Amino acid sequence: MAEAVIVDAVRTPIARGKPIVGDLNGFHAAELLALSIREIVTRSGIDFKDIEYLAGGCVTQAGEQSSNVTRTAWLSMNEGYHPGANQRTDQYGGSVENRIRFVVETLAAMCSVAGADKVGIRICPGNPFNDLSDANPEETFRVLLKAIDSMGLAYLHVIRMPKKVTGVDNLALAKANFSGPLIFNDSYTLEKASQVLDSGDANAISFGRYYIANPDLVEKFKAGTGLNDFDLKTLYTPGAKGYSDY
Ligand SMILES: Cc1cc2nc3c(=O)[nH]c(=O)nc-3n(C[C@H](O)[C@H](O)[C@H](O)COP(=O)(O)O)c2cc1C
Repeated sequence: MAEAVIVDAVRTPIARGKPIVGDLNGFHAAELLALSIREIVTRSGIDFKDIEYLAGGCVTQAGEQSSNVTRTAWLSMNEGYHPGANQRTDQYGGSVENRIRFVVETLAAMCSVAGADKVGIRICPGNPFNDLSDANPEETFRVLLKAIDSMGLAYLHVIRMPKKVTGVDNLALAKANFSGPLIFNDSYTLEKASQVLDSGDANAISFGRYYIANPDLVEKFKAGTGLNDFDLKTLYTPGAKGYSDY
């Protein structure tokens, strides 16, 4: 297991005033406010290739297979975008260009290690989960996507969430501002996924909960056989029940 550097110096409402990170790898949270990703990596002495977790878990085994800047709901990447959580006063906070800087730098660092064709990013503009808030998520994510579009990333993975919740048509926003491969997610059935793929709107559809309940999901799709329903009560709970006993 490689060392971890957690860059999580903001306090979200969910943290209820508790410091999220104290001293870690010789850095204090307050000091991290003023450091760029590259400075943190350089000063920590961590070999870029060995980074398991950078910035709250956003670079994953960058040398192998693919890496995904995910954390659509609550970790530091996403907190960075959101003015309701990002309280930084340096070049990583305030304007939208500053709030997206952390993600853009991390993606650039990941691409330099793994190659852009092995790096993807997952977004869910306007997701209010865990007290995240942004009065203008459409602008935030438009600026982000424009900034990363030329990187040649492997994909942009977009969660569609009802517009009445987010105030944004996430899929339209992604299509309008990102020219690389698109993966859409959330509550797709095989039928709906096939329609979207046939329409050319997305290059792939991802499945989460059905995969948990059906480890042989691909085979079942191919064979046209019925699926196990997932058990809502055991999602997001600890232990094997509801994960490896389907
Ligand atoms: C147990 C569980 C854990 C999840 N963890 C994450 C996560 O760490 N990061 C993330 O972006 N989404 C996470 N998700 C959300 C899924 O990736 C996916 O967006 C969601 O299940 C909706 O897709 P579906 O309708 O195909 O299940 C998780 C979902 C489940 C059920």
